[in-house]
Amino acid sequence: MKEFPSIFILTGAGVSAESGIATFRGAGGLWEGHRVEDVASPEGFRRNPSLVYRFYNERRCGIRDKLPNDAHRGIARLQREYPGKVTLVTQNIDDLHERGGSPEVLHMHGEIFKARCGECGGVSPWMEDLDGSSQCGDCGGPLRPHIVWFGEVPLELDTIFEALDSADIFAAIGTSGNVYPAAGFVDHARRRRARCHEFNLEETASSALFHEVHAGPAGRTVTDWVDKLLQEAGSR
Ligand code: OAD
Repeated sequence: MKEFPSIFILTGAGVSAESGIATFRGAGGLWEGHRVEDVASPEGFRRNPSLVYRFYNERRCGIRDKLPNDAHRGIARLQREYPGKVTLVTQNIDDLHERGGSPEVLHMHGEIFKARCGECGGVSPWMEDLDGSSQCGDCGGPLRPHIVWFGEVPLELDTIFEALDSADIFAAIGTSGNVYPAAGFVDHARRRRARCHEFNLEETASSALFHEVHAGPAGRTVTDWVDKLLQEAGSR
């Protein structure tokens, strides 16, 4: 029997919206002007690598000067101060959870500040622009953005499902629930009797699956939730 419930947190683009990073499916979203299959698929990369390099160079540049917000900081505080297990999984490719103080983040869709070698698969930190001449420091192979594109398998799935299986509380923060497998996590957690919380500005296609819906900007709703969890844990 666990002394404190285990918490599993899934975040999406909405957690970074108050930091000024556009969400995917909102008006003026990231994909505007680009078809998803052109900039976020292996076929798109093969067809027009320079477009894809340029697209992610722009994302990298745009994210660099953004700052974490209260939602990132609240989640980090929960990870550091909550006496039970807290697993943080993000679909985001930005590094705002890390810069907000999170000690551990599982990036299931990759990371914009990393590059991956097309030959040896090695992953390395990458802060600058990437292009067709960027080479792997280990084997000299060609580098691509370390991003999971459509049709590719998300990262860390074994660790993620292990944590989901033992979660007592599941929280989906700022995600529309449109992209699988992440969109199926709430169903998985529910079937294992986790209490499910959704944090979003608006109702989503899966809101009905959650036990509690926290409507409003994540900076406020997540801070309130974290305060409550830490207070409850402290008074036990
Ligand atoms: P979406 O853009 O689909 O959804 C963002 C969600 O955040 C929406 O439901 C918004 O209502 C909500 N939202 C916006 N601002 C918010 C705020 N301040 N507080 C709370 N909620 C807010 O983004 P994701 O669900 O993350 O995949 O998209 C999932 C994946 O689809 C992405 O990781 C990406 C994309 O294609 C890949 O690149 C592989």
